[in-house]
Amino acid sequence: MFLIVARSENNVIGSGLEIPWRVKGEQRLFREITLDNTLIMGRKTFASIGRALPGRDTVIVTRQSDLSFPGCYIASSLEQALDVASELRGDVFVAGGGEIYGQAIDLADGIHLTTIHTLAEGDIFFPEFDTSQFDIVVSRYYESNINYTYEFLLRKPLEARI
Ligand SMILES: NC(=O)c1ccc[n+]([C@@H]2O[C@H](COP(=O)([O-])OP(=O)(O)OC[C@H]3O[C@@H](n4cnc5c(N)ncnc54)[C@H](OP(=O)(O)O)[C@@H]3O)[C@@H](O)[C@H]2O)c1
Repeated sequence: MFLIVARSENNVIGSGLEIPWRVKGEQRLFREITLDNTLIMGRKTFASIGRALPGRDTVIVTRQSDLSFPGCYIASSLEQALDVASELRGDVFVAGGGEIYGQAIDLADGIHLTTIHTLAEGDIFFPEFDTSQFDIVVSRYYESNINYTYEFLLRKPLEARI
């Protein structure tokens, strides 16, 4: 399972339900990486997107027992979401938000981490994590209306972490 996230230089990922930037090209990257795979997201992130994204299976995590969303699977815990997702298409991507990243990061095999080169205002953050547990296997800098860097971090094999 992989995390996929865009965060600002000060680690903001959201403000209320919104993402506090618009960066040309960055969403295309998200689409390319996640297409034909499965997304897990928190109920608030789903509310902010408002629909199931085409070409992907979606599992929404919520503690509410009476929710259903067209074209989406529902799970009552992250563990259940991972179980459900393992039967769906392609690789599994945890796509936020802050609460769900916080629970998933220690389980992740890798992180698709985009850093938006700005200081953003917001109240939802990507969790602090130990970067020494990961190798940066891809790093690409993009110029846009706000420049950004995409990195793919892969968790080091156990013997390299001891
Ligand atoms: N920049 C990015 O890459 C990025 C990506 C994704 C989201 N975001 C932003 O992040 C923000 C949303 O993040 P958030 O932290 O507020 O919310 P969130 O993680 O999207 O969703 C939180 C909700 O998930 C459910 N949940 C969490 N843990 C659970 C568990 N263990 N078992 C069952 N349900 C669980 C609960 O839903 P119920 O309340 O229904 O029980 C909880 O209220 C928005 O601003 C969004 O735009 C940014």
